[in-house]
Amino acid sequence: MVFSQTERDGLRKMSVIADIPSLDVSDLAEAGAESVAFATFLRDIRRHIHQHPELGFEEYRTSEFVRSILERHGLAVTGPLAGTGLYTDIEGAHDGPVIAYRADMDALPTADAKSVKYASRHPGVAHLCGHDAHTAIAIGVALILHRNREHLRGTVRVLFQPDEEGTPGGAVNMVRDGVLDGVQGIYAIHVDPSLETGRYGVLDGPVTSSKDRFRICVKASSTGHSARPHEVVDTIWVANQIANALYQMVGRFTDARQAAVLTICRFHAGDAYNVIPEQAELGGTIRTTDAKERTAINQRLERIANELAGLYGVEVQVDIEAGAPAVKNDPRLTKHVASVIRSFCGEEAVFHIPLPSMGSEDFGHYLEKIPGMLLRAGTRSAPESAYPLHSDHFDIDEGALAPTAALMAHVLRTHPDQEPG
Ligand code: NI
Repeated sequence: MVFSQTERDGLRKMSVIADIPSLDVSDLAEAGAESVAFATFLRDIRRHIHQHPELGFEEYRTSEFVRSILERHGLAVTGPLAGTGLYTDIEGAHDGPVIAYRADMDALPTADAKSVKYASRHPGVAHLCGHDAHTAIAIGVALILHRNREHLRGTVRVLFQPDEEGTPGGAVNMVRDGVLDGVQGIYAIHVDPSLETGRYGVLDGPVTSSKDRFRICVKASSTGHSARPHEVVDTIWVANQIANALYQMVGRFTDARQAAVLTICRFHAGDAYNVIPEQAELGGTIRTTDAKERTAINQRLERIANELAGLYGVEVQVDIEAGAPAVKNDPRLTKHVASVIRSFCGEEAVFHIPLPSMGSEDFGHYLEKIPGMLLRAGTRSAPESAYPLHSDHFDIDEGALAPTAALMAHVLRTHPDQEPG
């Protein structure tokens, strides 16, 4: 579903969008973190989006809401692009590079179990990964930079993308639609309920894993009698051989020094207790922080399935759906972010993440094109904000919104120039 201009204008007029939070930006100096009005403004934005979550590529209202706020505060918006995405360019008064800051807008297809007054009003859809907070923070970043553009060198492009949770992820469409053209570096944050508010998780190099989905379907020429499996091919038995071989890949076939994990999460076959089914299907995900291992595991998975199917005389179909690549933080940008955190919030605010996550982030698609840095922002201050990402009770300490927006605005404003050469 794509909205026409008239439909979008209509949407804007609807009550959900008419209630646009606004802020007197005159006191929005770079220390936006200290402004109570700014903190309340971002909290209201986050709560509005939290109450009205939308799934990937369906963020029509969220996208219009973001556009309305930015336009009300004098920013020009480009979009929709990549489906429901948009961006705003903040042009500084001085020459300099174009750099980007990215937020994601999509929610998850899970019910919100919280009983707070800003809980999701859409049954079965909820912001349980903090993308509502990412969007609010990015609006804050854009407004701070816009207010202080006379001190800004170059241009900062603030991106609002759809469908981060999807496969391959909305970032692919954003890149396809040219949002990175001429852009030299990109930053993003992800909220982190394992870290206290005011602390930021930093890691140089791989910080999240790639994620590919696979589906293997084993098909025999007919069903069989459970008393006489030798007369047919037992597809469940063959699928089990494949499953066992796949589980043995990590650590035997892969380099033990490289992080990788393969998990089978679907296994469907049969119905009756005494009929050998014609078909058995399994599926799951492959995750690794190393691009070479990623290719090697995917190729080996296909080969294992094909060769075992050949050995036992069944047909096999293997589908691998490529998801996000691993996010690999650029060392120079990581150093820059860490030094801004130190000077803004003190040494103790920097948390050195010990190991990359085996989770994935579609921010990796941008980093295949240009250097970038994904920062984890602590959002835990009480038991209510300590639930893990994707938990149906997930919530954040909203006190983290304004300081994080101010911090990221400073990171962007002081982005280090490219080293010569
Ligand atoms: Ni997320």
